[in-house]
Amino acid sequence: MHRNSLKRSNDSTRIIITAIMGIAFGFFIGISISSVHLTKPVGNSFDVPVAESEIDRFSAEVNRSPAVIDESSGTKNLETLGSIRLPKIFVASNPRGAESLPPGIVVSESDFYLRRLWGEPSEDLKKKPKYLVTFTVGYEQRHNINATVKKFSDDFAILLFHYDGRTSEWDQFEWSRNAIHVSARKQTKWWYAKRFLHPDIVSAYEYIFIWDEDLGVEHFNADKYIHLVKKYGLEISQPGLEPNNGLTWEMTKRRGDKEVHMVTEEKPGWCSDPHLPPCAAFVEIMAPVFSREAWRCVWHMIQNDLVHGWGLDFALRRCVEPAHEKIGVIDSQWIVHQVIPSLGNQGESDKGKMPWDSVRARCKSEWAQFQLRVTNADKSYLEGHKRNGKD
Ligand SMILES: *[C@@H]1O[C@H](CO)[C@@H](O)[C@H](O)[C@H]1NC(C)=O
Repeated sequence: MHRNSLKRSNDSTRIIITAIMGIAFGFFIGISISSVHLTKPVGNSFDVPVAESEIDRFSAEVNRSPAVIDESSGTKNLETLGSIRLPKIFVASNPRGAESLPPGIVVSESDFYLRRLWGEPSEDLKKKPKYLVTFTVGYEQRHNINATVKKFSDDFAILLFHYDGRTSEWDQFEWSRNAIHVSARKQTKWWYAKRFLHPDIVSAYEYIFIWDEDLGVEHFNADKYIHLVKKYGLEISQPGLEPNNGLTWEMTKRRGDKEVHMVTEEKPGWCSDPHLPPCAAFVEIMAPVFSREAWRCVWHMIQNDLVHGWGLDFALRRCVEPAHEKIGVIDSQWIVHQVIPSLGNQGESDKGKMPWDSVRARCKSEWAQFQLRVTNADKSYLEGHKRNGKD
């Protein structure tokens, strides 16, 4: 450590950062020591409780060095604490990989709060956003996104996934400077969602919107939407869709006479059960909204290689119970799907097909693969269950 040069410095921020690094370094040494022991084939040595004398020794050493930075001794106390001899710790109930840490220091969840580099951490945020909205965007759609963002109050954190590599140009919008920008070229919404919206990363947000960029939001207000989602206890929802083309499912079409609907009627013969898709228990993948708890389940169902998310809509019902009550469409806050195949145009010709056609072909093939994987997973689980039951 550069103790001497630090002492001369008046920059308290640097001292604190170095102190933190010192503590981290201390922990690191502690972890390395325990992991050395971990590799020894001596059974579960960590289940052996820490000797009382060792605890006393530890407490005495801690008491000698208060965790403060003072004028006379500088960071000496922190260095002492950071390099203290640590009792061996093993907490089986900690998150996997973190068993050697005392539970009080384990932070297994995160958020997208933007912080400043100075001052008291507890005073960094004037207001903590309660909800998260993500858009997968290309610069070409900036005006639509600018209009959409206006419909979300400051209770919402905004996260943009950029598929065209153009990020800094968005700073022409005031709100963009407070948004989180993630850039990876030519990827899909579900690719980003799987990688950047892990449930432990977004656990600060009560609801998570995972939206396309081509939605018309003239008749949509996010605060009113959230109010209705809570009122009806919806875990997975979407705004009603103005049926401006014939491709919309009955379930997701906006009903002019309602606030919300959870069930609908399809053409005769389409629904084997009125509580099953496509008559109930599903929303489309263009503008879904998940509760924190539902997202914790749905995230696990997203396949790393099936990037278009086709088939996910009919599978969402596996994550909430009863699905025909917890999945619904908010009619009074509705949107228009403008159907701009912008990301499709980022595809490439494949086997003589035009870019958009080859993207579409992959979507359909992914749908079949996803359905097959889910069905096989059901089968092997249930058959395994049956075998175990017979034993
Ligand atoms: C973004 O939208 C607002 C109104 O919703 C508008 O006043 C502003 O000019 C737009 N910004 C740009 C750069 O188009």
